[in-house]
Amino acid sequence: MDTKIDKSKAALRRTLPDADLEIVQLPSLEQIRLALINADYQTGPLPAEVMYRVIANPAYWAFCWGSGLALARWLSQNPEVVKGKRVVDVGCGCGIGAIAAKLAGAAYVVACDNDEDALLITQANAELNGATLDYAADVADLTADFDLVLMADVLYDKSNYPLLQLVKKLAAQTIVADSRIGTIDDADFQLFHTAQALTYPNLGEFDEFKDVRFFRACSPLAAG
Ligand SMILES: C[S@@+](CC[C@H](N)C(=O)[O-])C[C@H]1O[C@@H](n2cnc3c(N)ncnc32)[C@H](O)[C@@H]1O
Repeated sequence: MDTKIDKSKAALRRTLPDADLEIVQLPSLEQIRLALINADYQTGPLPAEVMYRVIANPAYWAFCWGSGLALARWLSQNPEVVKGKRVVDVGCGCGIGAIAAKLAGAAYVVACDNDEDALLITQANAELNGATLDYAADVADLTADFDLVLMADVLYDKSNYPLLQLVKKLAAQTIVADSRIGTIDDADFQLFHTAQALTYPNLGEFDEFKDVRFFRACSPLAAG
């Protein structure tokens, strides 16, 4: 019977036929292991046919993005942020934020992603780390009974900006970690921390994306 990792490998190869998944420990976060794209994947100029597949189905979930990695490191150093809390990781990708929150002591964690392959690899990665999570494919299906929303490297595309307005209503507090944006055009979000991290494995990410900014918004729910 195919395991979740076998199924994820097949999904990855529908986008990148020569790619593989390997189970790795994360740099400076060795307590978390993830199945990610092989670090020696040859990125060179991709044939046009493969490029079309990447555009149609980018498999972002095969990487641990720099902001997710920085957020996970920060949670491991500041477990009180999630301890005993109900947390949702929106745009979970490989599952890094959700898994880090659960391992740091969150009581209940939902991993949310609108890519079904991301939810599949997140399940596989959660099992690898002994983390029990729940799953959601659509932010609109979530009810506002969380203490904390996490969102890492989801604002790479301006069309995702409206998500911020949706997610900040779900919980007393929202933490956005992002290396693609310098500011958030919403006075509710305040910059409170910066860290450095690159996407792992690093298949040639530009250095300009190594600075991860952490923004926090507190909703009126926080006062309750
Ligand atoms: C660049 S990846 C980052 C993944 C992970 N947070 C990390 O740091 O490694 C962005 C993820 O957001 C997901 N995403 C984008 N728009 C979304 C939406 N509207 N709802 C849920 N997930 C979304 C994508 O499918 C992708 O898995």
